[in-house]
Amino acid sequence: NVLMVIVDDLRPQLDVYRRHGMDSDVYSGMHTPNLDKLAEKSLFVEKAFVQYAVCGPSRASALTSRRPSTTMVYNLVDYWRDVGGNFTTIPQYFKEHGYATKGVGKVFHHGPASGQDNDAISWTEPFYQPPVNRWHSKEKIWRAVPEKTRQLNPLPDDKVLDEGLRSLRILSDEYKHRQQNFFLAVGFYKPHIPWVFPEEFLAHYPLDDVDYPNNPHVPLDTPDIAFANFDEIAKYGDMKATNHTHWDQTEEFPYLETKLLRRAYFASVSYIDHQIGQLLQAVKEESMEDEVIISVWGDHGFLLGEHATWAKHSVFELATRIPMMLHIPKVTNHGIVTSKVVELIDLFPTLAEVAGLPPLPICPENSRNTPVCTQGRSFTSLIEDPDSKKWKNFALSEQARFNAAKPILGQSMRTSRFRFTEWPEWNRRLGIQWEKSRGVELYDLKRDPSENRNLADYPGYRAVLNKLR
Ligand SMILES: *[C@@H]1O[C@H](CO)[C@@H](O)[C@H](O)[C@H]1NC(C)=O
Repeated sequence: NVLMVIVDDLRPQLDVYRRHGMDSDVYSGMHTPNLDKLAEKSLFVEKAFVQYAVCGPSRASALTSRRPSTTMVYNLVDYWRDVGGNFTTIPQYFKEHGYATKGVGKVFHHGPASGQDNDAISWTEPFYQPPVNRWHSKEKIWRAVPEKTRQLNPLPDDKVLDEGLRSLRILSDEYKHRQQNFFLAVGFYKPHIPWVFPEEFLAHYPLDDVDYPNNPHVPLDTPDIAFANFDEIAKYGDMKATNHTHWDQTEEFPYLETKLLRRAYFASVSYIDHQIGQLLQAVKEESMEDEVIISVWGDHGFLLGEHATWAKHSVFELATRIPMMLHIPKVTNHGIVTSKVVELIDLFPTLAEVAGLPPLPICPENSRNTPVCTQGRSFTSLIEDPDSKKWKNFALSEQARFNAAKPILGQSMRTSRFRFTEWPEWNRRLGIQWEKSRGVELYDLKRDPSENRNLADYPGYRAVLNKLR
């Protein structure tokens, strides 16, 4: 059985990173006990990267194990079955192999991006999406909700948890009595904006202790194309009032507002950690601990004032890097950490292998008409050998810029040490036009983990740059 937990906009912001002294550039005061505990019983992938730092494209890619250049999903409305190909998803694959499959909350990007029915073909059970309610308002970007209000008006993720727990109990029963295997996907909405969370989680983050980013400025020598306007946060009423509603490299975001927003993000992460803790507790109460593979991942990261910017829509480390852990009963209980670079498209073939389903074939060069295949690679070998020399040493991410005169499709490569990014022009007919580049970036993450200095024009790095290119 598989329990897949997806968290929206979750950057590597868990205490477990600090405890392992892992190289992660995040606040050290996080309260995430449940995910930390799960990480210690899992294969914890320290350097996991998404293929596109926006929900719709990232999820379409992850759940079909194909890169955005194959799903052709670069926005929040296109449906891969219409624009890319009729590709089989992870839950659909489990369904085709006899599993009961159930989805709750945000799994695919909702609406047209998943055919208006959360990709019904993926599920054997009705999909559950909580109704839109007052908590979706665009009035305030963050709000701490008192317990009494929450009881009258449960938050969307309270409803997601309730349905997740209910589904887990029913599916576990079916498994125990009828040997019916299940695949349950539970997708939480926070810490996506608006940061509406139960007030109690503020207690973990006294405002004085909340850190201000150590790099609130743009990196040296980095082209403007690397930055997105943070329209996403700017459209909230209380943000408009700050007069900082678009990216401007000469301006730093106000100090107090930055701390308040960071605190709201951190509290939202703790809230979701708490929700996930209850799901894990239910697995235990159902005596299913030895019977359920648990996969947790974020769909992409989020910048919180670093580089004078906000949100995702970029290929910076904090936008593309995610927490990823895979718990396999009895196999990973002692906890395994890998610092190898893993891509989100690697998850599908991994889960298939771990669950004993037929392995996914590697996709041919053109896989438009191949319903089942992977452009990733199963990372089960990292369980036995977390430092495996045979494992690939790159993760690729893309990021389109449609607001320029000609569309641009940023191409980024992360290796264990470097991030190399090129911003070529692009059109659907001619594809990527490498010779028409609008910017190049190279960061040496060993010396500069926060990406504060673009080295693309440094003679000393020319050989590295050419190799990565
Ligand atoms: C897509 O593939 C599924 C099987 O995976 C099939 O049932 C369905 O009819 C296909 N849809 C189209 C439009 O070809």
